[in-house]
Amino acid sequence: MRGRQSFVMVRRPLPGGARTYGRGMEPSRFSPFSPRFWRSPLRGPWLTSVLGVVLLVGITVLFVTGLLSYAAYNPGLSPVNDKTPDKGVLGFYLFAWPTHPHWLYRLTQGVHVTLGITLIPVLLAKLWSVVPRLFTLPPARSLAHALERLSLLLLVGGGLFEFVTGVLNVQLDYVFPGSFYPLHFYGAWIFFAAFVAHAVLKTPAALRNLRRMREERAEPAEVAEGAEPTGLTAPDPDPATVSRRGALGLVGGGSLLLFATTAGQSSDALRWTALFAPHGRRDPGTGPGGFQINKTAAYAGIRPAETGEDAWRLVVRGRGGTVRLSRAELLDLPLHSAALPIACVEGWSTSDQWWRGVRLRDLAALVGHDGDPPDVLVESLQRHGAFRRAALRANQVADPRSLLALSVNGEDLTPDHGHPARIIVPAAPGVLNTKWVAELTFGDL
Ligand code: HEM
Repeated sequence: MRGRQSFVMVRRPLPGGARTYGRGMEPSRFSPFSPRFWRSPLRGPWLTSVLGVVLLVGITVLFVTGLLSYAAYNPGLSPVNDKTPDKGVLGFYLFAWPTHPHWLYRLTQGVHVTLGITLIPVLLAKLWSVVPRLFTLPPARSLAHALERLSLLLLVGGGLFEFVTGVLNVQLDYVFPGSFYPLHFYGAWIFFAAFVAHAVLKTPAALRNLRRMREERAEPAEVAEGAEPTGLTAPDPDPATVSRRGALGLVGGGSLLLFATTAGQSSDALRWTALFAPHGRRDPGTGPGGFQINKTAAYAGIRPAETGEDAWRLVVRGRGGTVRLSRAELLDLPLHSAALPIACVEGWSTSDQWWRGVRLRDLAALVGHDGDPPDVLVESLQRHGAFRRAALRANQVADPRSLLALSVNGEDLTPDHGHPARIIVPAAPGVLNTKWVAELTFGDL
């Protein structure tokens, strides 16, 4: 019966020495439901606690920076900015995204994506260290135990879901059915809720384990067979081939490698080190326009004929009426410069580029909004794409560094950087810095 079947008949001693069959069925050692199936000597409360504490901090930072990413869209301002409109109470924390410091989104989203990728080895090692717990029997000893196990399923499933959708999103081959935004957003809340429940239940024990290790100041000797309450330590382990610290070193090394080959995507000088990042390795060109590009003019369906001096006119609407301006007329308006980065939602960013153009607030004044400028709806020549239209809040319009840029780094914008004109706003996600601008409508959205 061994091998093929996963249960064996156990002859249990009865009082008075008799033996019986059936009662006290125990899974065979070849079944994952048997503690003896799990042979690695590395598993145990200490390893799981160390990985757990690292994830406690890391995932909390991921959740907060993720929520900030959504807030940076100013989703409450207009439906065009909101890809998760049915969020209901989950949007309780939203606020008007600031324009100071100008590198804010570059930092928060850079941290979100780079930390997410860096934590992958830690997450996988943690799941590996607790996998025997997923097979412990009985599945539920009590209602509380059943709820804890359900939260574990949401934790493991939610965690894998968030990391997988996140990585697929930044690697640009997003294959999930349904939009990334609501899936990743709702997945984040489910995962974090299960994570908080798990942390509340487990952190005291984890900290006790770490304190015990510090006291032992030696290779953490897991407790002897049979007495280990967490069910993590193998009752019948194979001989060790690496120490627990060695195993942690391997996990840390994996994280360091992923960090070293991802973080460079947030700096022009180190971009060549970002081997795995879609916008890593090198810049798309040289010279003033040689910095990173998300969508090219060709990809956005921009036809040169519609951006030419004779064809293109910027339409600006406001309470004072509508004006149509050629590029030459825009160049005759007061021009200003601002040093601002492009910070993409995928986590990569450029260093500050020198943009020059007309202040958005000056364009608002042209159509009757002197003094405090209102919100603005920006529309692009782009024919498709989730953000061919985007809304900017009054505080963003009012910022003197917020420009309708006509040139960058001393040269006219290239077609891929948004010629004839593009939006550039401090601290805003790249998707709200609309390229190939066709219309600006100032006023309540
Ligand atoms: C490898 C791991 C991860 C990667 C690469 C990743 C990547 C991303 C990216 C690229 C975005 C912005 C998408 C966009 O606006 O277009 C994002 C948003 C977000 N992420 Fe992650 N993420 C990861 C893990 C997580 C985890 C573990 C959580 C939760 C604990 C999380 C929570 C969020 C939230 C709440 C948003 C905002 C969603 C929205 O704008 O609708 N992410 N993430």
